[in-house]
Amino acid sequence: MAPISALIGSTEDSARQILDAIESQFQLSDDALVRITDQFLKDFRLGLSEYNHPMAMIPTFVTGVPNGSETGLVFHSSYAWAHFSFQVSCHFLEKHKSSRRLHCFYHVLCFTGLKDLPRPRSRWNKPVRSRILTTECATYFTLFSRVCEVQLKGNHQFTLRQQKYRVSEALKTGEATALFDYLADSVDAFLTEFPSSPNSAPPDPFATGSSALDLLDTSDSSPAVPLGLTFSFPVEQTALNRGKVLTWTKGFSAKNAIGHDVVQLLQDAFDRKHLHVRCVALVNDTVGALLSRAYTAGGCILGSIFGTGTNGAYVEKVENITKLGDSPARKHGGDMVVNTEWGAFNNTRTTLPTTPYDNKLDRESINPRLQAFEKFISGMYLGEITRNIILSLIDAAPYPILFNGRASALLNKHYGLDTAVMSEIEQAWENGRDQPSSNDKLVNGSHAISNASAAHPHPSLSTPTRHFTEVDKLSPEDRSRLERIRNIVIQRFALDAADVTLRDAAIVHWTSCLVANRAAKLSGCAIAAVLVQTEKAKLGGGFVPKDEKITIGVDGSLIEHYPNFNARLRASVRTLVGEEVEARLNIGLAKDGSGVGAALCALQATKQGL
Ligand code: GLC
Repeated sequence: MAPISALIGSTEDSARQILDAIESQFQLSDDALVRITDQFLKDFRLGLSEYNHPMAMIPTFVTGVPNGSETGLVFHSSYAWAHFSFQVSCHFLEKHKSSRRLHCFYHVLCFTGLKDLPRPRSRWNKPVRSRILTTECATYFTLFSRVCEVQLKGNHQFTLRQQKYRVSEALKTGEATALFDYLADSVDAFLTEFPSSPNSAPPDPFATGSSALDLLDTSDSSPAVPLGLTFSFPVEQTALNRGKVLTWTKGFSAKNAIGHDVVQLLQDAFDRKHLHVRCVALVNDTVGALLSRAYTAGGCILGSIFGTGTNGAYVEKVENITKLGDSPARKHGGDMVVNTEWGAFNNTRTTLPTTPYDNKLDRESINPRLQAFEKFISGMYLGEITRNIILSLIDAAPYPILFNGRASALLNKHYGLDTAVMSEIEQAWENGRDQPSSNDKLVNGSHAISNASAAHPHPSLSTPTRHFTEVDKLSPEDRSRLERIRNIVIQRFALDAADVTLRDAAIVHWTSCLVANRAAKLSGCAIAAVLVQTEKAKLGGGFVPKDEKITIGVDGSLIEHYPNFNARLRASVRTLVGEEVEARLNIGLAKDGSGVGAALCALQATKQGL
């Protein structure tokens, strides 16, 4: 990137001009937000009517959402590492031979911390009981994967226990077969290490009346353990258990997967290993979040992820998915969950105001010109955009603006600045504030994100903190907050303390706010577009929804942990669709949505006899 030049004035003047120029590039006016949301809606409609558009609007063939009365014990598994993870959820269905009563088990497998996947001690060559498993491919920042066991209690609640294992990073760029072999091995290891115990089964939720689960052949002659796959990458689904990989995202590039049926890739791995497991359902993590939030809240219109990647799945009228043509699914009518793959919005580069820092990131990414929206928003990229700005300020001309013009090896490293550090910096500022923003707190139990003060956010939520070039004028409290940020900067950027001033700390904080605030505002556009598409709101406001509460399920590190992300997002939604609608939004954490949702989806698969 060309060094930024300020041609005239004193050091202070030139710094101010440069910082002002950067700030203006990251600002999004209310009008700009409306324009962006409007384009979102146009892209939604295009994607619903034709295939092969960046906004893929993938029909998922999931035609209902749970209401929370479903019961059973759920097991789910996930594998996670730097920029990629698998999750495997296993929903076990077991029939007591003595009583012929049905018991539902779901397992969540998440692996972290250990050096190697534990070697399987046995093979499932012969099914001893009938099980539904679900497998998920998702993304996390850390090198781990986990295994969980979830029990659906039938009263909108579930319990979960988990075990973590380490996964090799080489899998993300190697041969797809190695990746899927690993996934199959993990399912095998999980089944071996955590065999379902008939004694731990809950009272039979499906004992009376006919259940979808009765469709399963639970006799010893049943051919295989049913399994659902959650795969958090774009896949063009053609059925609940069929779908071709469209592209890799989130820094992933395993060879020989694109264009192939992901269910088949996994099934082939099971077959190579002679595992008696059969993939019955395929879901995206957003669909998992939607289903899981619907389960805990009794309904939900949108499941969205704001984490390493970003995406949303919502409930659409089948009649609007015109690209399904005369297919039986379309003729059947009703509703269907659509996976928007909104991370690809603006791949045409016609809508979002793009800065040189975004262009540098995109050029140097493994998927240039793709996932444009995701690159403005998600946790995988925010740290890198911030690093690009910081480097440009170190290199600023005629005078360096940061760190005496010195960088560190870490700052010079591609993706050397983790978004979690930005979060830490913003948190250090928030901690000293008199009145912390209550609308950014997660409420446990109901897993709701409170909107208590959404209508009156702290001023810094909508306007990022100005770059404090005049640190001397700050209050003692603010100076001590900056002192904390300075310490974080020295530590996390691996800089010499002598090169980091309080003013530097203020500028780094301001940079983080700029990047995160833009991300949260744009996230609000995506949510507002779904609200308008589903007729819960009108763009521009002035619409009073019938629903007392409009439920949205969210998951991901940004929305869960980044200070004020949720509040900034809500402020953006309020700008776009008005206070009446925003106040009714019940945005709740769909924690472990991938596992619970995948298992619920496997249930639907069994209903369809898959
Ligand atoms: C990426 C994937 C998408 C996934 C999202 C969140 O955008 O393409 O399928 O839902 O990340 O994990």
